[in-house]
Amino acid sequence: MTTLTPVLSATWDVKDSWTLSTYTKHGGYRGLKKALKKQPGELVQAIKDSGLRGRGGAGFPTGMKWGFLPPDDGKPRYLVINADESEPGTCKDIPTMLSAPHTLIEGVIITSYAIGCNHAFIYLRGEVVHVYRRLINAVREAYEAGHLGKNIHGSGFDLDVTIHSGAGAYICGEETALLDSLEGRRGQPRLKPPFPAVAGLYARPTVVNNVESIASVPAIIDRGVAWFTGMGTERSRGMGFFSLSGHVERPGQYEAPLGITLRELLEFAGGMRGGRPLKFWTPGGSSTPIFTDAHLDTPLDYESVGAAGSMLGTRALQIFDDTTCVVRAVMRWTEFYKHESCGKCTPCREGTFWLTQVLKRIEKGHGTPADIQQLLDTCDSIAGRSFCALGDGATSSVISSVKLFRDEFEQHVSTGECPFDHAASALFTYSDSLEGAHA
Ligand SMILES: Cc1cc2nc3c(=O)[nH]c(=O)nc-3n(C[C@H](O)[C@H](O)[C@H](O)COP(=O)(O)O)c2cc1C
Ligand code: SF4
Repeated sequence: MTTLTPVLSATWDVKDSWTLSTYTKHGGYRGLKKALKKQPGELVQAIKDSGLRGRGGAGFPTGMKWGFLPPDDGKPRYLVINADESEPGTCKDIPTMLSAPHTLIEGVIITSYAIGCNHAFIYLRGEVVHVYRRLINAVREAYEAGHLGKNIHGSGFDLDVTIHSGAGAYICGEETALLDSLEGRRGQPRLKPPFPAVAGLYARPTVVNNVESIASVPAIIDRGVAWFTGMGTERSRGMGFFSLSGHVERPGQYEAPLGITLRELLEFAGGMRGGRPLKFWTPGGSSTPIFTDAHLDTPLDYESVGAAGSMLGTRALQIFDDTTCVVRAVMRWTEFYKHESCGKCTPCREGTFWLTQVLKRIEKGHGTPADIQQLLDTCDSIAGRSFCALGDGATSSVISSVKLFRDEFEQHVSTGECPFDHAASALFTYSDSLEGAHA
């Protein structure tokens, strides 16, 4: 069985894990010291050789992205960290920044040095004020220790870091909407090309990377490329977070080599809640087609999950047992997409609205047999026809659930009611929350 490989989460249980002194005591900023002794190009090559792929969802090779920046013209270029984490089920970046913010800060410094950036930005999801405070404090500590500012450790390299708190919009996680928002405009996606590497923040060359991608950089530089490539599969190297939520005994972050299976992860997580059967799950968050118990042994790497008909996405494994109504779960996800649709393009703005209308009436038992085909037709008008990937993502759970659980949709229509007891499926009841309040 694959074992867990805590790297980014190695110190999360240590007292005051978020402080610079704890981070340094456990080997923190060793990677930076090694990095500053190398040429920037050597660092870009090391990340290319490591095979690190972006952990923000699309899995684009990180070193290759850095390599897309045009040659230095003496004017600014930027690193922007995407810390907007808002996808339902995705919950790895926020704990990383809360428990060990210096893993990210150190990664930001090494990456900025590698790409020739003197001003980096961390764009944080607006709601997580506690994480904002922690990042601000970590940046202050890093300045005081000489890890940030002018002439870092005598290297001649200068770097400032700005933490920017967004206003809480899922679309601002899309990298170009993020850049517009960071520039002070309404967060809506930009037309690509030009890609951010050519014209990003303030129309200057910009690298946008996910928190986990950049937080992985210090360990790669410190422990070496061979150490990193020794984990994972041939084309999905290294370790990553697998965020288990829902009907499992011990939900949480499990840091493991890519290619681990849900069956193995469930053993770490204590199995399904109350030993009940697994019904369906998302391998990569709510934007990815759902899987069933038939996929328990699918290796969770980019290639295997893709070949099985879904996407590894952000490795947000939302797990549902047999008490769950799939129509209801999909309706709730779709309501999220309708709410978060930025409205820029018609297929997504109108389509997500109509999907929720039809799903709501099917779930209540008021649907007609034609409604199921209507759902698929509406998805067909959205997927591949929307301006950004939010539209495509909104259709994933609808299409896959009709494909895998068509009989359940038909049962709602034919019986005129939902066959499930929603209280049995709920994770917390009102009395649980009251008990919690008195504890
Ligand atoms: C609607 C939408 C929301 C997204 N949200 C995030 C997010 O919260 N965090 C993130 O890193 N990437 C998110 N992405 C992906 C980014 O556009 C981009 O691919 C990513 O930040 C690149 O970083 P990486 O190469 O390190 O993965 C989102 C994409 C879309 C379409
Ligand atoms: S797909 Fe949705 S979120 Fe993306 S631009 Fe169109 S309306 Fe906005």
